[in-house]
Parts: sequence; structure tokens; C-alpha cells
Amino acid sequence: MKLLDIYSALKNDVQFMEKQLEKSVLSDHELLSETSLHLLKAGGKRLRPVFVLLAGKFGTYDLHKLQHVAVPLELIHSASLVHDDVIDNAETRRGKPTVKSKWDNRIAMYTGDYIFAKALIIATQLQNPLVHQILSKAIVQMSIGEMEQIRDFFNTEQTIRNYLLRIRRKTALLIAVSCQLGAIASDAPAEVSNKLYRFGYNVGMAFQIRDDLLDICGTEKQLGKPPGSDMKQGNITLPVLLALQQPELRGPLLDQIAIIHESDGAAGVAAALDMIRSSNGIDIADRLANRYIAKSLHALEGLPDIKAKKNLTEIAHFVAKRSY
Ligand code: IPE
Ligand code: IPE
Ligand code: MG
Ligand code: MG
Repeated sequence: MKLLDIYSALKNDVQFMEKQLEKSVLSDHELLSETSLHLLKAGGKRLRPVFVLLAGKFGTYDLHKLQHVAVPLELIHSASLVHDDVIDNAETRRGKPTVKSKWDNRIAMYTGDYIFAKALIIATQLQNPLVHQILSKAIVQMSIGEMEQIRDFFNTEQTIRNYLLRIRRKTALLIAVSCQLGAIASDAPAEVSNKLYRFGYNVGMAFQIRDDLLDICGTEKQLGKPPGSDMKQGNITLPVLLALQQPELRGPLLDQIAIIHESDGAAGVAAALDMIRSSNGIDIADRLANRYIAKSLHALEGLPDIKAKKNLTEIAHFVAKRSY
């Protein structure tokens, strides 16, 4: 099933949220409006706000309340991408030049900060300190995750546990709190918001594992950026760690990674990608992603059988198979 078909159930609300999103970053400062709209207008799956809306269906659904969580979550995600592209030195995202490449790193830093701050302004319109606490804690965890990513660049000795902790922080927790906060903002019982949190957490883990697989196996058209970006940057992801565990591959792959490191990403990427693609790391990572998806579906058990639950299940299946 396509993402758009799943979203069609929420079409009007997603459109409303989209308008709010655009409005949210307008500023008296022309350049800030331009740089922050640049990424927003390039599209994106809008997964986090959609999770907020769907989770909201498990309580007293009120779009005007939910927007104060849905918009900040997409903004936090966007801000983190603007910063992430600085860290990853990425030239393109969503098929467009990144803020850091169209302008520069300094502009990208403040664009990210600006978008983060806008997220907080909107969130504080909801007078529930729990919401603000959860959001701020998620941002803290994302920052730690990104710092860990920098620390672990080119670290071929890192463990799989290390990798899983890192993606939990940088990706899974924000998706978890998207689901949790949708439920909290619509006054659903704690039991419901907890289940949705667990759903989001497991979907989020699968989501990042898929993202890392796509970076190795996907095409530029699918990804909106050249494949192999992670390898080039020295971001050692799950399929790479698994390939390194294969005795006959370990030596040659370590050599290629050293070449990438020494040449600052100018050489060795294609050969390394070939080795990883031919390893059993692809299959094992794929199976792990599917295990997280199974767990996410398990977390939904016991929730009322409403349409939103079906939609969440469909999104989980989309994440399991996604190619963009
Ligand atoms: C990209 O997230 C960064 C990761 C957490 C893997 P998305 O794949 O949700 O990005 P957009 O918003 O759809 O571009
Ligand atoms: C996700 O990691 C980035 C954040 C959670 C901020 P990636 O570095 O894998 O994301 P992409 O691949 O650049 O979208
Ligand atoms: Mg990146
Ligand atoms: Mg990636």
C-alpha cells in the first residue's frame, strides 16, 4: 500500500496541518523564512505529524489541539535534518540542495535553531507541561544520538548494541513520542498512550534500519540523494557491522573503509558498497527490521479496533517495505 493511500483517510487534516506548518516558519527576517521554507517545501513523508493525528483518534480528537503537537514534531524533525546535513556534509535531500549547500553551514546552523525555537513556541500553546517535557527530552536524546554518530564515524570496532542505542536516540524516540503525544493531547488514558509509544518506538527502529539499508541498496531517484552517503561519511550502519562479522569479508572490507577514510570519501565507496550488498548483512538487517515491525504490531493489541488502528498497521507495513 502507498503512503498517500493511507493518508487519504486524513486528507483534510493533513492539508490543514501542512498549511500551519508553512505559516509556522514565516518570519520578518526574509532569509530565515526562505531557508526554513526551502526544506519544508521540498516535501517529505510527514510521518511524525500523521502519527500524531492517528494517535489522536484514540482519545477526544481535536485538530486544533493536535496541531500544537503535530506541527512542532515535524518542525523538530526538519530542524534536525538541517543540522544533520551539516554533520553528514550532505549536498542533497528530498531531491533538492540542502540548506548547507545552497547557503552555508553557518546559515544552516541558525536555520535549524530557528526552526527548533518555532517548534517550542507552538508547543507551548498547549498548556500541558508533560507535553513540553516529553518534547524537550526527545530533542536532548536526538542531540546525544547525533553526537554519538560523530564519535563513531569510521569506528569499525563498535558493537551492534552501540548501533541500536544510537538509532534509538536519533530516530526511534521522536517517532515514539509522536504517537504518545497525539494520545496525550487528546486526553487518551495512559495505558493507550503507552501502547502507542511502544508502537512508535518499534516502528522508529525499523524505520532507521530501513533507511540505513536504503542508503546501501537504494537508487538516487528513490533516495533523493546519492546512495552510499553513509559509507562516504564513515557512518558505520547495521549492514556494514554485519558484513564485518563475515570472516572472509572482514579483511577486504576493513581495507576499503580505510581507503574511504584516508581519501575523505573520494575513493573506495563503490567497492565497499558492492561487498556489503553481496554480504548476508543485508538479509540479517532486513530480518531485524521486520522483527521490530512485528513488535510494533504487537504493541497495538488491546487498543480499540478503530480505523486509525488499521492505518497505523498499514504504515508499519509500509515502513517494513519502504523504498523512499
Ligand atoms: C529521514 O527521515 C531521517 C531519518 C530519521 C531516517 P524521513 O525519512 O522521515 O524524512 P522525510 O521527512 O520523509 O524527508
Ligand atoms: C537520521 O539519520 C537523522 C536524524 C535523525 C536527525 P540519517 O543521517 O541516516 O538521515 P538521512 O539519511 O540523512 O535522512
Ligand atoms: Mg544524514
Ligand atoms: Mg540515512
